[in-house]
Amino acid sequence: MSHSLPLIESSTLESLLSPSLVIFRDRLLSNLDSMLVMAGHPSRLRPHCKTHKMEQIIRMWVEQGVTKHKAATIAECEMLAAAGATDVLLAYNPVGPNINRVTALAVKFPACRFSVTTDHEKPLQQLSASAVKANVTIGVMLDVNVGMNRTGVCPDDPAAVTLYVLASKLPGLRAAGFHVYDGHLKQSSLSERKAAVAAAWSGVQELRSKCEAAHASVPALACGGTPTFPCYAEMDDPAIELCPGTSVLYDSGYAVGFPDLPFEAAAAVVTRVISRPAPDRMTLDIGNKAVAADPPKGMRVFFPDLPDAVQEIHNEEHMGLVTPHAQKYQPGDVLLAIPTHICPTSALYNNVAVIEKGQVREYWDVTSRNRKISI
Ligand SMILES: Cc1ncc(COP(=O)(O)O)c(C=O)c1O
Repeated sequence: MSHSLPLIESSTLESLLSPSLVIFRDRLLSNLDSMLVMAGHPSRLRPHCKTHKMEQIIRMWVEQGVTKHKAATIAECEMLAAAGATDVLLAYNPVGPNINRVTALAVKFPACRFSVTTDHEKPLQQLSASAVKANVTIGVMLDVNVGMNRTGVCPDDPAAVTLYVLASKLPGLRAAGFHVYDGHLKQSSLSERKAAVAAAWSGVQELRSKCEAAHASVPALACGGTPTFPCYAEMDDPAIELCPGTSVLYDSGYAVGFPDLPFEAAAAVVTRVISRPAPDRMTLDIGNKAVAADPPKGMRVFFPDLPDAVQEIHNEEHMGLVTPHAQKYQPGDVLLAIPTHICPTSALYNNVAVIEKGQVREYWDVTSRNRKISI
């Protein structure tokens, strides 16, 4: 991968803590622009905030007219509503105490419409009871399993219609449409990705017709993530909401995997050499507490300045590289690393340094990295 990063002035680079996370403001703005261009209109977007979890980025979206947002946790929902989002979807089926937290959100932020996904009657009934008690209305999107097999109801399962019709009838709830997430579609070729989306789409349409025939309207279809963003964006269906998240900050995993996408890495981890334990080895302070460890070992970051270095050791606080260039580095030398997976990486930091014209302009909190803000 020939991925480069914008320059950071050397005195700024020297002053940055390691490990720390930086965001390149111009890259971020360019990714947001590309998302708007691909969507065609701000009202078609429902971006997922899990990638960055930062209030400042949500405020940028709201200024652009993007008011619908998606979240994976109650804390993310709270961050979104506090930052001005007026339509928030919790795309993570609430169960247990999280059910009352959803209705508490609706009480605390009356100007924001909240919806959740569901795939089972039990939590749906509990949500209805909680909403009635709190005197609020919560939207419900039927979570449709289009092949990822993580959550949801299969579109041809008769239980799907029954559940959605129930959601349309239970007090305190509002049938808000379908949630169609397809994180299993990872074809590198865009035409193959489009074909895979089309293959699953017919099942979603049949389910939609059945629900509508049962008098449960399907006002919205919250579809896909970053890889399938271009696939749904070109569909001409006003119900479609486009839900990319990673495209905001982007990462080296997607940059390698999806060459058709126009986004560029807007975040990097600042790391330093702490030791050179052998002539061809150097150890950095970018352990798995500093960068996401869910990609396979050896592939967790990309170093634009050392593209061929072998990531041989990756412990909590250390990454051991094997590279013939090790001799060029001294303890204290700085490197920038593009995470392979940015979403769990941003969750490792309390705040990020925002870089503009090579310098730190400000620091932004990663507000909803915590599980709880106030609710
Ligand atoms: C339910 C859901 N929707 C949307 C997204 C955003 O997808 P991406 O990270 O590909 O942009 C994710 C990512 O994990 C997700 O889990």
